[in-house]
Amino acid sequence: MGKEPGSTKFQTDFRRHLREQNISGNLVHLLCEIAEASKYVINAVRTGDLGVAGTSNLYGEEQLALDVLSDRILRKRLMYSGVVCNIASEEMDEIFQVTSNPLGMFSVAYDPLDGSSLVDVNLAVGTIVGIYQGDNLLQPGRNMVGAMYILYGPRVSMVYSVGKGVYEFTMNHLMEFTLTREKVQMKPSGDIYSPGGLRKKYTPENEAYIRYLEDKGSKLRYSGGFVPDINQILMKGKGIFMYPALTDSPNGKLRLLFELNPMAYLIEQAGGAATNGCMPILDMVPEGLDQRAPIYIGCKEDVAKATEFLNGVC
Ligand code: AHG
Ligand code: MN
Ligand code: MN
Ligand code: MN
Repeated sequence: MGKEPGSTKFQTDFRRHLREQNISGNLVHLLCEIAEASKYVINAVRTGDLGVAGTSNLYGEEQLALDVLSDRILRKRLMYSGVVCNIASEEMDEIFQVTSNPLGMFSVAYDPLDGSSLVDVNLAVGTIVGIYQGDNLLQPGRNMVGAMYILYGPRVSMVYSVGKGVYEFTMNHLMEFTLTREKVQMKPSGDIYSPGGLRKKYTPENEAYIRYLEDKGSKLRYSGGFVPDINQILMKGKGIFMYPALTDSPNGKLRLLFELNPMAYLIEQAGGAATNGCMPILDMVPEGLDQRAPIYIGCKEDVAKATEFLNGVC
């Protein structure tokens, strides 16, 4: 695509682009509402209170004021969107049913502010969203009708897919999202690795895989923020992110509904892969809202290699 500022495509805004995708008007509306909500989230991130909220979420994590505020911003938008019936978030203990719209068309699972503990040191953070048709949130991620993330970095970018490829939009000086990349595709393998979790808690299989990556000369690129770490791999089209099982947490850290499924959907749409070591992330049937899973996500061959090292131990 033409990237010159004058080109028409470069200025294609999100809503116009979505209308051309031949998807339902309700889904267009929902995606635009989420994009609008992210503008308030970025404002909160940039100017909001950096302290704690004094509460904890269902994982026992201390919530920051920004976690709670971002959650409220998104929940309200979704509630009043008119097309959503069930809402689940990393910061809510249970499914929020939109009583005014019990038969809404979509259910949404989101992480309102991933990496929130990085805001005080001014690193990049993001919002992650998965969208399901109907009212069932506990179904395999493969059934999602769309996924997106918004990355709050030096620039604000939004990456989404509705199963028709992966597109990136970037916020311009008028706070509009305009198309910057289309049909993003990953290479078969790459030389970046982003390993999450304490290395001393790695199992021997994971330790061996990391040593393999180091020996082959992969570059360590890990920020501690899932959204910027995945965005780097997706946009450069190369590398692997992993947050494996740890000796004291067999399911790793990251959450299936709020973090893993949307990212797995986007990476698969771009020709990459995502597994828990034994099966594709998108085929896992969630047993509960708070389910965690180990993840290996990125270029197909790198993910396959990780699976080889794990040899069924997962
Ligand atoms: P959250 O801020 O939503 O609780 O999750 C943060 C995640 C993710 O961004 C990152 O990949 C991972 O936690 C890092 O965790 P640790 O630093 O605890 O290993
Ligand atoms: Mn958290
Ligand atoms: Mn998170
Ligand atoms: Mn979070």
